[in-house]
This record gives sequence, C-alpha cells and structure tokens, in this order.
Amino acid sequence: MAKPVLTLDEIRSHVERCCKCPLCEGRTHVVFGDGSAVARVMIVGEAPGKNEDLQGKPFVGAAGKYLDELLAIAGLAREDVFIANVLKCRPPGNRNPQVDEINACADFLREQTRAIMPEYIVTLGNFSTKFILKTERGITSLRGQLHQTGKFKVFPVFHPAAALYDSSKKVVLEDDFAMLGELLKKPREQ
Ligand code: URA
Repeated sequence: MAKPVLTLDEIRSHVERCCKCPLCEGRTHVVFGDGSAVARVMIVGEAPGKNEDLQGKPFVGAAGKYLDELLAIAGLAREDVFIANVLKCRPPGNRNPQVDEINACADFLREQTRAIMPEYIVTLGNFSTKFILKTERGITSLRGQLHQTGKFKVFPVFHPAAALYDSSKKVVLEDDFAMLGELLKKPREQ
C-alpha cells in the first residue's frame, strides 16, 4: 500500500521528537524548515549552523542574507519558497554531515518534498545535491543545469556560504539564480 502523504505539521511533530542520531543531544532547536506549504520552488541546504540552531529557522545568518539576495534575482521572496536542510539538527562546530546522520534524517526531507510537491528543487552545494540526485558527482560539474529526478526538476547551485568565502563563485551563483528566474517565467507544468 502507498505510504500516506503527511502534512508539514505532522512531519514537524515527528522531527521535533526525533533522537535517531546523536545530534539531538546537542541541539537548542530543531530546524524544520520554513516557507510556503505549496511552494513551486523548494530550496535544500546542508545543515543548520549556530544561528539557525539558536533561532530554529533555516538560513538566518550571513549565508541566509545572501540567499535572500539570490532569491530576489530569481524574482522570489522567502515566503514564495520552502527552505529546508538535509539535516534538521546542527552538527557540532558546523562540521560536515556524516553518512549515518544523513541516513537518519533522510525520511524527513523526503516527506517534506512529498507534502509540498514543488516543481523545482534547488539544491545548495554538494551535500544536498548528492542526496537529492543520488549521485557522487560534485557540484561544480552539476550546477546550473536542470536534472530530472522522479517528478521533480532539480537545479543544483553552489552553496551561498561557499560564495561568501570564494567571491569568484558569486558571479556563477548569481547567474544561476537569474537562470532560475527565466525558468520560472514558463507556466508550471502539471
Ligand atoms: N547553511 C545551511 O546549509 N543551512 C542553513 O540553514 C544555514 C546555513
């Protein structure tokens, strides 16, 4: 029998009680994700950082401020999209997510995607791109192109935090969000 589609509130209540990996022990807040439940575009980052853990919201630090600018280039505001992460709890010291943590958290992102059914999933950086596209290929060779996975169009881009460290990535990232804006001018396919 097909698995029922849960609402975002139902998924949130599971995430808030989750202790399937040790990251739950160090968290201040779960960072479930934020935005429109009927978004045409879902943005998927890596994992909460310090500010996100403190506030319980995704992308509220410097990378988040830059993400808002990137969304504006595509003609989008935060309220138009849904922003989630592969991991819902902060890895200590912002280290990379580990395979067992990604596996423990994976169902939550899958459920969120099924609840929202976006037309586009924009993956930010290597971790979310590899997770969504089920690939080992790196972001540099995948970014800026549309990929189809199941019902979703996936558009990988560099992580905004990477562009804050390496300004040569900014031009590329901004061009990619301009391209996303062009793609969104076409009516939604049903
Ligand atoms: N980086 C991410 O990948 N996600 C956040 O929520 C914040 C920073």
